[in-house]
Amino acid sequence: MFRTIEWLDDTNEVRLVDQTKLPLIKAHIITSSHERIAHAIKVMEIRGAPAIGAAAGMGMALAALESNAKSKNELLAFLRKAANTLNTRPTAVNLTWATRRMLKVAEDAEGDIANIIQRLIDEAKEIAEEDVRMCRSIGENSLGLIKPGFTIQTICNAGSLATVHLGTVGAVIRVAHEKYDGDIKVYAAETRPRQQGARLTVFEMMEDGIDTTLITDGMIGTVFREGRIDCCVVGADRILRTGHIINKIGTYTMAITAKYHNIPFYVAAPTSTIDMDTNPEDVVIEERNGDEIRVINGQYITVPNAKVYNPAFDMTPPELVTAIITDKGVVHDPTEEKMRSLFD
Ligand code: MRU
Repeated sequence: MFRTIEWLDDTNEVRLVDQTKLPLIKAHIITSSHERIAHAIKVMEIRGAPAIGAAAGMGMALAALESNAKSKNELLAFLRKAANTLNTRPTAVNLTWATRRMLKVAEDAEGDIANIIQRLIDEAKEIAEEDVRMCRSIGENSLGLIKPGFTIQTICNAGSLATVHLGTVGAVIRVAHEKYDGDIKVYAAETRPRQQGARLTVFEMMEDGIDTTLITDGMIGTVFREGRIDCCVVGADRILRTGHIINKIGTYTMAITAKYHNIPFYVAAPTSTIDMDTNPEDVVIEERNGDEIRVINGQYITVPNAKVYNPAFDMTPPELVTAIITDKGVVHDPTEEKMRSLFD
């Protein structure tokens, strides 16, 4: 798979895959504007927690280049505004994690403005490279859980396109596919309303020659009951110290259904997705426009003014989670103590 987002050294621009056009059109967006990056995050041209973290990091580096600042204070003021502009989605923690990290680098950097800007460009590239390394480690750490011949149920897209490269769930599947000579299968839930499962997961799995079956979200119970699935592996937009998992809407229902059928429920995520500070009741779940549900392919599929509730994410409690697979190791039956030990 190609890289979802890249820094172009020759021109100091950012190139990202336009995910709203996939799988029918493979197009890129190239920009030198942090406001364009903010827009791309907002309208989901780039999406997936680690990918929007990398985009926000690069957006901050572009902002530094755009700032025309004459002093460090002017630069910091411009970057603080840019961070607010880039934080366009509230749920995935990677976004604020990346903008805070970039601000800290600017605050701590010494030397003239040109040096600080270069430091920010290097840090943005490092966030992206780190993501690639963390995904590879997630894949390797999952090998004890995923056996040859397994069929994995997933939801949304936590593949290459949701990260810089490889994916979180994508890495679990790809590393197993590589090690077990292709003896691994995937069931992808369509993922209403934005269809990241149908549009993106099926696309990228098939590009890599991985045996993938598409189902609608309502079929999950049936495929579990029919014994087609060995385990679930889902991504996360935020993992709390309590072990609560915030991920794409439908994840919670899948976890409850998995428990009922004694199917292991695994979550694959980098440590940059872990939020040790926020309490479950304080997590902001993004609510999106009702037309995402009312309209398909430009046509109303319901009464045009139908009342709609459209939360983009849900929260799965730790008692439904068999294990969290991170770049730093696997946390079985997550508890606060075990989550803390990841960072010791
Ligand atoms: O609304 P999206 O498409 O940004 O939601 C993405 C997800 O829910 C993914 O499962 C999650 O970010 C994990 S990505 C490795």
